[in-house]
Amino acid sequence: MIVVNNLTKVYKLSKKQMMEQRTKKNIKRAVNELSLTAKPGEIYGLLGPNGAGKTTALRCIATLLKPTQGDIKVCEFDTVKDSEKVRKKICFLTNEIKLDPQFSPKYMFNFFGKLHGQDDKTIQERREKLFNYFGIKEFEDKKIEELSTGMKQKASIAVSLVHDPDVVIFDEPTNGLDIVTARNVTDYLKLLKKEGKTVIISTHIMSEAEKLCDKIGIIINGNKVIDGSLEDILSSTHTEDLEDAFFELYKLHNKEEA
Ligand SMILES: Nc1ncnc2c1ncn2[C@@H]1O[C@H](COP(=O)(O)OP(=O)(O)OP(=O)(O)O)[C@@H](O)[C@H]1O
Ligand SMILES: [Mg+2]
Repeated sequence: MIVVNNLTKVYKLSKKQMMEQRTKKNIKRAVNELSLTAKPGEIYGLLGPNGAGKTTALRCIATLLKPTQGDIKVCEFDTVKDSEKVRKKICFLTNEIKLDPQFSPKYMFNFFGKLHGQDDKTIQERREKLFNYFGIKEFEDKKIEELSTGMKQKASIAVSLVHDPDVVIFDEPTNGLDIVTARNVTDYLKLLKKEGKTVIISTHIMSEAEKLCDKIGIIINGNKVIDGSLEDILSSTHTEDLEDAFFELYKLHNKEEA
């Protein structure tokens, strides 16, 4: 279970960042009073344009960043006060964290299994299950640097799941993947959901959110403008599909900001 309560995250900007972002303000409110709940057996999708605040929100949930305001509970533990306990319950995947290119998927899997305090037998069983599922076995001994983007992403996903976490936090899990590999990953997320895990992902891909997510939260300029099931979102925006709903909301809320 993830409960985000009024999360605000403000970054301080360096002079260089102010120049790059063409702003005179030395702060950036990346997430503004965001509240959401993701339950066990549910996939929650954060949908939003570039710079909306999706990665920032997920980093706060994963204890990598401290909220400026508000609080987050993961499996009833506070992500600031009980961050160690939260870390044991979660896995976090972002396309900016890479596996060490010098080592193989098998080596990395075993390494992270030991880091999580698992015994050799458990590690081997988990590895068999995940490597078979993602088709990693045939390249499990190759160096990460020799692998394609899709192979690397599959290996990263498998390694992140080594400790069988209750809460799965994936930032754009299918980014850069071909349609076959992307399906492989989304099917696995459905399996995790069936096992009763709590899953939260971010995505730009409308069809992915439509097909995969039980609940969708749309963020624009750090503000959650709507959340609910696909049906809820379509009926409250009077639209036929998520893309149309997204553009309706974008027109409305991007204007407010300007
Ligand atoms: N470390 C940082 N310091 C300053 N500003 C930051 C930092 N990280 C992100 N930002 C800014 O905060 C805002 C939200 O960024 P974030 O990465 O959370 O968006 P996102 O929704 O994940 O975007 P994308 O779809 O491009 O991944 C952006 O304006 C970004 O420039
Ligand atoms: Mg992002």
